[in-house]
Amino acid sequence: NEDLIIAPSILGADFSHLEEDLVSIADSGAQWVHLDVMDGHFVPNISFGWDLIRTLRPFSPLTFDTHLMVSQPERFIEQFASAGSNAITVHHEATVHLYRVLQQIRSLGCKSGVSVVPSTPVSAIEHVLEISDIVLVMSVNPGFGGQQMIPSMLQKIARLAELRETEGYDFLISVDGGINAKTAGDAVDSGADVLVTGSSFFSAPDKISYVADLLSLGRA
Ligand code: DX5
Ligand code: ZN
Repeated sequence: NEDLIIAPSILGADFSHLEEDLVSIADSGAQWVHLDVMDGHFVPNISFGWDLIRTLRPFSPLTFDTHLMVSQPERFIEQFASAGSNAITVHHEATVHLYRVLQQIRSLGCKSGVSVVPSTPVSAIEHVLEISDIVLVMSVNPGFGGQQMIPSMLQKIARLAELRETEGYDFLISVDGGINAKTAGDAVDSGADVLVTGSSFFSAPDKISYVADLLSLGRA
């Protein structure tokens, strides 16, 4: 965990001054920007699409980590890649053609990510771990920021870390949902490499020290 990555989610930002909030992510010392795309079908909420990502792209030098909470994401991979995503994560539960979608993401020059909701076991995605650059463990039911982490998801992180070790994979393990200064330590101890943080980042009185606190967990 030496190279812990912090990925603030703009879902927690104030959309009336999104550019300013995007700049505050880079200024905080975080390395990635997490972009939560919701379609009102896979999850009961609608956020934004590729046009917004394309609009934001020039205002940040950070890695754009796009999280598609979208049914049949294969319909839109090209748009999200050309809008400037560096990584695109899709849900196992949202497509029956998971392996193919991950291949498609890589073929467009992006890091491939696979995600599972809390009810899906790691065994459901074992067949795609070989072509995944990121495995995103949802630690809440996706759809909304500001929820509490489901503690049993830590075991999923640990299982993925174990599989990576025994099978020789090299994906990053990302954890998303309810991450804050209190919960992040357990996630890192379980094996998380990427910490997605939405509401806790944007409500932190001092974003630089909040990110520094999270980063310090990687050196423990
Ligand atoms: C949940 C999203 C998360 C969420 C994180 O559906 O995928 O990325 O915005 O927000 P917090 O950190 O507030 O749980
Ligand atoms: Zn997310």
